[in-house]
Amino acid sequence: MNIAITGSIGNIGGMVARHLNTCGLSLILPLRNPAKAPDLSNCEARRFAYGDLELAKQALNGVDVLFMVSTAESPTREQEHLTFVQAASEAGVQHMVYLSFAQAALDSTFTLVRTHAVAENAIRQTNMRYTFLRDNFYSEMMATIANAPIIAGPPDDGRVACVSQRDVAKAAANVIADIACGNHRHDNQTYTLTGSQSLSFTEIAAVLTEITGKLHRYHNETLEEAFASRKAEYSDTPDWQIEAWVSTYTAIAKGELAAVSDDLPQLLGRAPLNFEDVVRAQYAK
Ligand SMILES: NC(=O)c1ccc[n+]([C@@H]2O[C@H](COP(=O)([O-])OP(=O)(O)OC[C@H]3O[C@@H](n4cnc5c(N)ncnc54)[C@H](OP(=O)(O)O)[C@@H]3O)[C@@H](O)[C@H]2O)c1
Repeated sequence: MNIAITGSIGNIGGMVARHLNTCGLSLILPLRNPAKAPDLSNCEARRFAYGDLELAKQALNGVDVLFMVSTAESPTREQEHLTFVQAASEAGVQHMVYLSFAQAALDSTFTLVRTHAVAENAIRQTNMRYTFLRDNFYSEMMATIANAPIIAGPPDDGRVACVSQRDVAKAAANVIADIACGNHRHDNQTYTLTGSQSLSFTEIAAVLTEITGKLHRYHNETLEEAFASRKAEYSDTPDWQIEAWVSTYTAIAKGELAAVSDDLPQLLGRAPLNFEDVVRAQYAK
């Protein structure tokens, strides 16, 4: 089977490609700039962009299994995803593994998740088999957000079952390797990938304080304060982006990202990394 991995210059796609390549699998790597392709053996970089139907179809020629990383956030993201799904279907891809987001729904509070629901619906309407990997917020991103002495947002007592990117990538590689071996257990399955703990921002701040030795604390902003503080600090940032940032906190406040799922340990064959492990690794760099 021919396997294509998108986003292989990025964090998740890069780790997925390395895991599979280490297992001896050759890969097709669709990239906006093939000159930046990671240094892997027996891999073929092909030029593409999510939003370019013809170029994407050429890049996916002969591909059986496709891992699709969602694109960077932008006002055109939804259309780019739809174009790429169309390209994959028309190119004859058999199975699409799509990196979605926890609780993807058209009315999700976290505004950026809504495009994942649209992409999932589009994939379901094709003839491709699919596996949706709905990951929660990345622990690595939470550790970065919290990398200020004061974490400010409106999550009240909300909790987040954040997940390590390393675990998401390993789980994705395991799923793709199974599919490539002809195993059909992941056909039309949706997995929710979370860590094994659900943490409040107060607890996240406490972990940061313990590991960095510097005091971190959580400041509970009102919604108005959250918008005002971000608009003041990032005055050139468009409203949709500010709304997306604030909605990460309000989604957590509403409990939409609190649920811990058993799917990740099943896919990994071990417990997920906990938040402390991720922060320690981040600060050891
Ligand atoms: N769960 C979370 O907490 C969370 C947080 C942040 C982001 N995300 C989402 O998860 C995805 C994967 O995370 P990551 O850390 O691996 O991201 P990343 O390191 O930024 O990698 C994203 C990859 O997607 C490629 N890409 C972006 N837009 C594209 C386009 N229009 N056409 C073709 N390729 C495009 C990039 O290619 P280039 O190298 O050519 O730019 C890059 O290789 C992100 O793209 C984002 O949608 C999730």
